[in-house]
Amino acid sequence: MRRWILKAGATNLDGLFLEEVAIPEPGPGEVRIRVHAVSLNYRDQLVLLKNPTPWRLPDRDLVPVSDGAGVIDAIGPGVDTWVVGDRVTGLYFRDFIEGPPHANMGFGLGSLDEDGMLSEYVVLPAKRVARAPASLDYAEAATLPCAALTAWSALYGDHPITPDSKVLVVGTGGVSLFALIFARAAGAQVFATTSQNAKLQRLLDLGVSDVVNYRDTPDWGKAVFDRTGGVNKVVDAAGSLNQSLAALQPGGEVAIMGVMTADGPPNPALLMGKGATVRGIAVGNAKAYEAMSQAIDTHQVKPPIDRRFHFEDAKDAYQAQSSPELFGKIVIELP
Ligand SMILES: NC(=O)c1ccc[n+]([C@@H]2O[C@H](COP(=O)([O-])OP(=O)(O)OC[C@H]3O[C@@H](n4cnc5c(N)ncnc54)[C@H](OP(=O)(O)O)[C@@H]3O)[C@@H](O)[C@H]2O)c1
Repeated sequence: MRRWILKAGATNLDGLFLEEVAIPEPGPGEVRIRVHAVSLNYRDQLVLLKNPTPWRLPDRDLVPVSDGAGVIDAIGPGVDTWVVGDRVTGLYFRDFIEGPPHANMGFGLGSLDEDGMLSEYVVLPAKRVARAPASLDYAEAATLPCAALTAWSALYGDHPITPDSKVLVVGTGGVSLFALIFARAAGAQVFATTSQNAKLQRLLDLGVSDVVNYRDTPDWGKAVFDRTGGVNKVVDAAGSLNQSLAALQPGGEVAIMGVMTADGPPNPALLMGKGATVRGIAVGNAKAYEAMSQAIDTHQVKPPIDRRFHFEDAKDAYQAQSSPELFGKIVIELP
């Protein structure tokens, strides 16, 4: 079989190589997946480009990419939860079944000590696998494990959205567009920010009520507040905490997961004055994934796929994922 390897010490796409190895066999408690599609996230760029990061230590070759979908084609001894032919995705974190995050979850598939999904076959523990929503094809399902689940956790944690909610999504990457689509499916009103005016119409087509350009309007949090009367929830995929707090109405929540920018520690006056909540998001657990999958089938949610690439063109896919033109998810399909 073929798989992509990120060589130890690599800091750019020159370190990404396609190699031929034997098809792995599942051991006790494991299943083998014939991978049909993978999708890229911002974190895969961090694993690739910014070595060393918390996501990757520089001392070994790594099969990159956290998110993939495929079909179970072999089962190891002792597994009775899956059968050959089941359509599945991987789960991002190790052993994160329910409850809050814990210390031994790792940094996700395709980082540190865990090889990822950019491979024709992968072997995973049976509990590291989730059923793919029946309404999605493999390319669509491959976008779920990180971006979609993060968006879902942000919308439905301690401050779940309702049809009356006003939600702000920051930027137009995978997490933000999933949050937009899930929130619209729930009947909420959605506002967005972007740095690219060319994306305005596409956001409106997805049901966004209003858009602020965060580059042209550095004080975009106040601008959103003025236009909306304040939102109940910000899905902050940038890490711009004080702008997000400024956009909130009293009692609202900033669900924060972004590491792209940091506008300092939270302003206590804003935080206290609004009685705001700030909640950190770590993707999500397997229980939340199940609820998300059901909602996807019920509401016929279609993941926001921007472009699809062939397996051999993985380097082009990485480039597309880091382009300013990105609008949602980049998928790599396998033959
Ligand atoms: N904690 C977690 O569990 C978790 C899980 C998933 C992702 N994340 C983090 O969430 C962020 C988004 O991930 P992703 O995979 O969705 O990213 P992505 O798909 O690569 O998103 C890229 C988009 O983000 C927007 N963006 C870039 N820099 C920005 C800035 N300074 N301010 C506002 N928006 C900016 C841009 O939108 P425009 O072109 O419209 O400006 C860009 O197109 C990353 O920081 C990632 O590490 C965290």
